[in-house]
Amino acid sequence: MMLKGKRILLVIGGGIAAYKVLDLIRRLKERGADVRAIMTAGGQHFVTPLSVGALTGNKVHTDLFDLADEQDIGHIALSRDCDLIVVAPATANLIARMAHGQADELATASLLAAAAPIIVCPAMNPRMWSHPATQRNVAQIKADGATIIGPAAGKMAERGEEGVGRLPEPLEIVGKIEDFLRLRSGTGPLAGRHVLVTSGPTLEPIDPVRYIANRSSGKQGHAIAAAAARAGARVTLVSGPVRLADPEGVTTVHVETALEMLAAVEAALPADIAIMAAAVADWRVRSAAAAKIKKDGSGAVPPLALTENPDILSTVGHGSQRPKILVGFAAETNDVIDNGSVKLKAKAADFIVANDVSPEHGVMGGERNMVHVISRDGVDHWPQMDKTEVAERLIALFASRLNA
Ligand code: CTP
Repeated sequence: MMLKGKRILLVIGGGIAAYKVLDLIRRLKERGADVRAIMTAGGQHFVTPLSVGALTGNKVHTDLFDLADEQDIGHIALSRDCDLIVVAPATANLIARMAHGQADELATASLLAAAAPIIVCPAMNPRMWSHPATQRNVAQIKADGATIIGPAAGKMAERGEEGVGRLPEPLEIVGKIEDFLRLRSGTGPLAGRHVLVTSGPTLEPIDPVRYIANRSSGKQGHAIAAAAARAGARVTLVSGPVRLADPEGVTTVHVETALEMLAAVEAALPADIAIMAAAVADWRVRSAAAAKIKKDGSGAVPPLALTENPDILSTVGHGSQRPKILVGFAAETNDVIDNGSVKLKAKAADFIVANDVSPEHGVMGGERNMVHVISRDGVDHWPQMDKTEVAERLIALFASRLNA
């Protein structure tokens, strides 16, 4: 629905993945978009303007100095009379030219003159993608406002090459474009709402170089934050140290300790929904040493006196700014439902998402999760699924409860 009547300007770069763009055009058109295309000189080596024009049903533009084109629509108007610009495939060279604001052909000139938002879908050899120069250029075009989709990992067109650099499949690109448009349109079940999510572990210092931590990867919490953003919410994610990128369209606050997480959560309130997915350390070292603790040669180990951290979920649950919907997680290795139900009451939450984190289930750090959603109404046992799907379903559940 998001694409119906949308005017999309497609900039086709010179990469082998250009053939996939023919299918992308079909998918966009199927959903009711009006697609115009500009091809770079390189792009025309891979697919012809004839096929692109046949699929878009519109004239394909290639030349900066085409007088007929200039009288017809004009290269500035081309990139202004549209709702969205999609660059696919965006080669290393095209991204470099964008990063430097070059206007050396119609495609780059149009991108420089653009008023509409730009989505860039990189596709190139994995070595070219991971090169610091390309990463610098990508960071630059992001800072200039572009949204990046991909690249995906997998086998490359060149024989024997594999890695990150593939153009994502057309349907995946279409899905991301729809998410993007939905976010900007302010529609979606959580439009106008503020959702607060905690994610990842906390690190509790022992001394300046050592700390106590846990195995939380942050994958589930980050997926929930991303899903809430896709549902149209303004999202604040308070995250402990994780090896994950900040989710698109989310305000991410980075913290280390439980005390910092509590402060960041309190600063982010009020919220309509708060989802505490972080694995907060229960204890911190009572007084972390200011200098590195040294062995004294006697073989004696230093005493590690611990003290309990504040319970963030419970503090929010019993606080004056309690969100309408408050959700906790319960990481258990036994008596999952019973322990989860106790936490629901004790922490004044509306839902506890309980999961069995025994090592044999591979939940901690893994891609999949099997959860039991506990509320005052009872327990729902969900089948095992990807963490992203768990996130989607949780957000749909909380949104419908909030909007009920
Ligand atoms: N939690 C929190 N602050 C803490 C500890 C936990 O906000 N200091 C939150 C977690 O984010 C999660 C829920 O409480 O949403 C349950 O966390 P869990 O570690 O399973 O439970 P604990 O209360 O720590 O209980 P225990 O470790 O004894 O099982």
